[in-house]
Amino acid sequence: MKKNIQPSNITYPQPIALVTCCDPDGNDNIITIAWTSNVSRVPPIVMISIGGEKYSYRLIRETKEFGLNIPCSSILEKADFCGENSGEQINKFEKTGLTKIDSSVIKPKLIWECPINYECKVIDIIKIGGGNIIFGEVVSCMTDENILDENGTVSVEKLDTFAYINKGYFALGKCFAKRGFSGK
Ligand SMILES: Cc1cc2nc3c(=O)[nH]c(=O)nc-3n(C[C@H](O)[C@H](O)[C@H](O)COP(=O)(O)O)c2cc1C
Repeated sequence: MKKNIQPSNITYPQPIALVTCCDPDGNDNIITIAWTSNVSRVPPIVMISIGGEKYSYRLIRETKEFGLNIPCSSILEKADFCGENSGEQINKFEKTGLTKIDSSVIKPKLIWECPINYECKVIDIIKIGGGNIIFGEVVSCMTDENILDENGTVSVEKLDTFAYINKGYFALGKCFAKRGFSGK
């Protein structure tokens, strides 16, 4: 049996990103983002969706740059905090104790405790419904060495990342099979 339910966004897990941004004077902020995705491999483009006129949205719209930091489960509580509090009132780097590191190309700082750090330059913003879809070209990227596999690519198993769905945090990282295992 199938049942009609209210249309919603809970169809699949959302990976969490901690997006870093700053004001023109270099005051840093962090926003927790569940709605993020890859858009293009060449050139590498990602998207984030920020609802309404949130403080971080206003910063990114003005400076046209953001960092996309992928957290691991050891900093889950800090990620939750950055999604429950506004940088307009508090300094989230100070409150969480997360460590700022310099970016190589963009002005916003990156987060040391996140094993993947992308530096992004905004190439377009599209307003759809209540969301602002921000497209960022990845102009620089670094990772912790210990999450790379023998081929030098990111190992999701080693990454220990987590997903957000239906108001809960879920573990990721178990690989069931490799692409193409079904044959042609
Ligand atoms: C797990 C989680 C995921 C979130 N995902 C998003 C998202 O994808 N887009 C969004 O606009 N807000 C999202 N939020 C809410 C923002 O992180 C929250 O409104 C934040 O306090 C805004 O910070 P700012 O005022 O410093 O910009 C999420 C919050 C949590 C806890």
